[in-house]
Amino acid sequence: MAGTFDGKVVVVTGAGGGIGKEYALYFAKEGAKVVVNDLGSDRHGGGKGAELAGAVVGEIKAAGGDAVANFDSVATREGAEGIMWSALSKYGRIDVLINNAGILRDRTLVNMSDHDWDLIMDVHLKGTYLCTQAAARIFKVQKSGGRIINTTSLAGLLGNFGQCNYAAAKAGIYGFTRVASIELVKMGVTVNAIAPVALTRLTEDIPLLQGVSRDEMGPQLIVPVAAFLASDLAADITGQIVGVQGGRIFIYKMAQSGGVTREPAKGAWKIAEIKEKWDEICKDPEPAF
Ligand SMILES: NC(=O)c1ccc[n+]([C@@H]2O[C@H](COP(=O)([O-])OP(=O)(O)OC[C@H]3O[C@@H](n4cnc5c(N)ncnc54)[C@H](O)[C@@H]3O)[C@@H](O)[C@H]2O)c1
Repeated sequence: MAGTFDGKVVVVTGAGGGIGKEYALYFAKEGAKVVVNDLGSDRHGGGKGAELAGAVVGEIKAAGGDAVANFDSVATREGAEGIMWSALSKYGRIDVLINNAGILRDRTLVNMSDHDWDLIMDVHLKGTYLCTQAAARIFKVQKSGGRIINTTSLAGLLGNFGQCNYAAAKAGIYGFTRVASIELVKMGVTVNAIAPVALTRLTEDIPLLQGVSRDEMGPQLIVPVAAFLASDLAADITGQIVGVQGGRIFIYKMAQSGGVTREPAKGAWKIAEIKEKWDEICKDPEPAF
């Protein structure tokens, strides 16, 4: 039976568990050749190993699919290039990159260490940059378009206690996605981001997901959105940040209020005037029609 992604080469970072593993299993089932990258670390970024990615590749092959494991870290240039090289050396091309690898090092701002800050920035923000750049350079040579799907988070878009490092990195991925989508459009490459909420080892202890079942909030529920964004059906969709929480799909947008303009001829605003106009400055814009 024909699969939706027959012959496509899909690279998924952090595919040894959680959401990434579900992506890898799905794309393989739909006919893609999958690079299953995973450093094999614990959820705080400690340790490494071949078991996680190896087991997912074993599962794909046992089901008759095609996959190769890669154990590099997304957080270094050699790692990012090594991941793409796994795709090129085994399958000769890349069609889809899903930047999904992630860890948590939660601390309040006053207790944050530089190490916890840097590690989160390296894995999430720098990892997304390095892998996207490496893939984009290949897309440029291939001249047949491409799909990049990044992973951001509610914490980065709205804020969350104890996650200033993670939120800053994930908000950075928002800005990065917007710019990459603008720059790569001329190459026929779409760049979107998913902000998931799903029951995985990263989230199993957060209050929001206590008592919730895998059927209601499992990582398998994130897969259709990535599959849609990676498919031909989404060729004209780029620069979007798609929230997925269980069965709910929605779009995150950066909001601007309508604002108030002071005639430049009247000189700069006085602070008392800003105070007086504050409610009006904050008001939503009037609808255009
Ligand atoms: N689960 C959620 O509710 C949720 C919410 C918001 C965002 N996210 C994001 O979704 C993504 C997937 O998270 P998950 O919940 O499936 O977590 P997970 O821990 O199950 O999976 C993340 C995987 O990334 C791998 N990894 C970590 N560092 C790596 C590195 N340097 N190089 C390569 N692989 C590395 C880990 O070994 C792990 O298998 C992450 O980016 C996370 O921040 C998840």
